Amino acid sequence: MNLENICNRVVEIAKETGRFVKETRDQGGLSVEVKGLNDFVTRVDKLSQDRIVSAIENLVPGAGFILEEDSIEERAKKYNWIVDPIDGTTNFIHGAPPYAISIALVRNDEPIVGVVYEIVMDEVFYAWKGGGTWLNGKKVTVSGKEKVADSLIATGFPYSDFSYIDPFMDTMDFFMKHSHGVRRLGSAATDLAYVSCGRYDAFYEYGLHPWDVAAGVILIREAGGKVSDFKGGDDFLFGGKIVAANGNIFDEMQKIIYGIMEKGINN
Ligand code: IPD
Repeated sequence: MNLENICNRVVEIAKETGRFVKETRDQGGLSVEVKGLNDFVTRVDKLSQDRIVSAIENLVPGAGFILEEDSIEERAKKYNWIVDPIDGTTNFIHGAPPYAISIALVRNDEPIVGVVYEIVMDEVFYAWKGGGTWLNGKKVTVSGKEKVADSLIATGFPYSDFSYIDPFMDTMDFFMKHSHGVRRLGSAATDLAYVSCGRYDAFYEYGLHPWDVAAGVILIREAGGKVSDFKGGDDFLFGGKIVAANGNIFDEMQKIIYGIMEKGINN
């Protein structure tokens, strides 16, 4: 299997679909449906997903699908596509950047190809296992910051699962006082892509889904960064909690998050 060729094809598919998403938005008629508390889907999410699935379904014979906008999960044993047709749907509805298409191929739950196409800035971030991380044709790497105190930290705010809101607010308190600042873009896939190219030094969030993070994980790893769940383990794809950072500050970052979040969770 040639992962570079598959990645290049997925880049084309993401960009084509992104153009469709932008044009459809410009023409109006979003048709917003409510999936849950502060959780929305538009007609464009569904159309975007249909286009992506029909374009990628023959790229890897036998591969299954884990899709955001789907009630039926068609998971296969070894290879699966994990797709978020618009990550940052709330931004998309309000016309606020960023929003992105996120497509990953995983082998035994390890991301081996990842593409995040941020539609508003027309930036495509992509990586395949062993091939490095690329942004619009140029190789990128994570930042070289050596201390959390010198770092810019990104996160996502809880919007429907408020069970860990108190410890989460404590992390915000900590990073406001002990880093260069905290940012919240509203698209976890874009946050992870920004860590991969060094714009941000670290990212953490709870309450995430595999389609929010799968592509971003390989972007970060191939760019020299590290990813884990809050405990420092590997359950970040399906476990909902992720911390990602450049390799220099990763341990410091993970210990801070674990110390504050898990203490609150266990109480
Ligand atoms: C959401 C975005 C947001 C994050 C949420 C995600 P969606 O994805 O990534 O930044 O805070 O947890 O669910 O629903 O817009 O695809």
